[in-house]
Amino acid sequence: MADPILQIKGLEVAVEGRTILKGVDLEVPQGEIHALMGPNGSGKSTLAYALAGHPRYEVTGGSVVFDGKDLLDMDIDERAKAGFFLAMQYPVEVPGVSVLNFLRTSLNSIRGDELSPREFMKLFQEKSKLLEFDASFTDRYLNEGFSGGEKKRHEILQMAMLEPRFAVLDETDSGLDVDALKVVSRGVNSLRGPNLGSLIITHYTRILQYITPDVVHVMFEGRIARTGGPELADELEAGGYAQYGSPEPAVAPSA
Ligand SMILES: Nc1ncnc2c1ncn2[C@@H]1O[C@H](COP(=O)(O)OP(=O)(O)O)[C@@H](O)[C@H]1O
Ligand SMILES: [Mg+2]
Repeated sequence: MADPILQIKGLEVAVEGRTILKGVDLEVPQGEIHALMGPNGSGKSTLAYALAGHPRYEVTGGSVVFDGKDLLDMDIDERAKAGFFLAMQYPVEVPGVSVLNFLRTSLNSIRGDELSPREFMKLFQEKSKLLEFDASFTDRYLNEGFSGGEKKRHEILQMAMLEPRFAVLDETDSGLDVDALKVVSRGVNSLRGPNLGSLIITHYTRILQYITPDVVHVMFEGRIARTGGPELADELEAGGYAQYGSPEPAVAPSA
């Protein structure tokens, strides 16, 4: 088995003084895609934000080793430069910043050197084709007036451009119609390989029909309650979160 790219041990996180994560243990070997499932409020997004270094999420115990280094010791910038990528459940709007400028700035900052305009455009065109963006998209302001599907596709475009070592996708599937879900999944699958580890956070099993995870973890009340193979997602699809004491189904109501 490959070395873990991400190793979380006994992680405890508090938000506004309230303990949300109560000792999370989770390990992702490099090159694997793991799914993190769980009912609403179980702490999935809290884990994502804590890993990304969001200041409101206070780590009160445990450790996180990323690519052999102490992740919790790095500031947000250092985490990104080390190859940690987070696609957020609620992407922010950045008025006045065009998609192209945003991508160029983040790419240069993470690489620490500048691609020539020609190299940059070549990369951009290659990756935007993959995610089915047309040329008019590049001059639009980041996330302003984007549809839900466009925001998610842009996140994956950003990921494709930055080529992170590890990506956390928090509910990338929520609010996507089937076509957008397929484009997003195709994007993720095309990035799949020995140099990308990934944690796909989802309440519903739907995205896992397009991206087959190597391992599925179920979070419940701030802890990993179970870890298993892809069949665990099938089990949740059939029985929902009832066995964890939650009435929530794992199949989207509209699906
Ligand atoms: N920024 C925040 N402020 C206050 N409470 C929060 C915040 N983020 C998360 N929580 C609380 O932490 C718990 C877990 O939430 P969350 O991590 O969003 O769960 P999930 O993503 O699994 O639905 C919930 O009870 C939620 O109310
Ligand atoms: Mg969430």
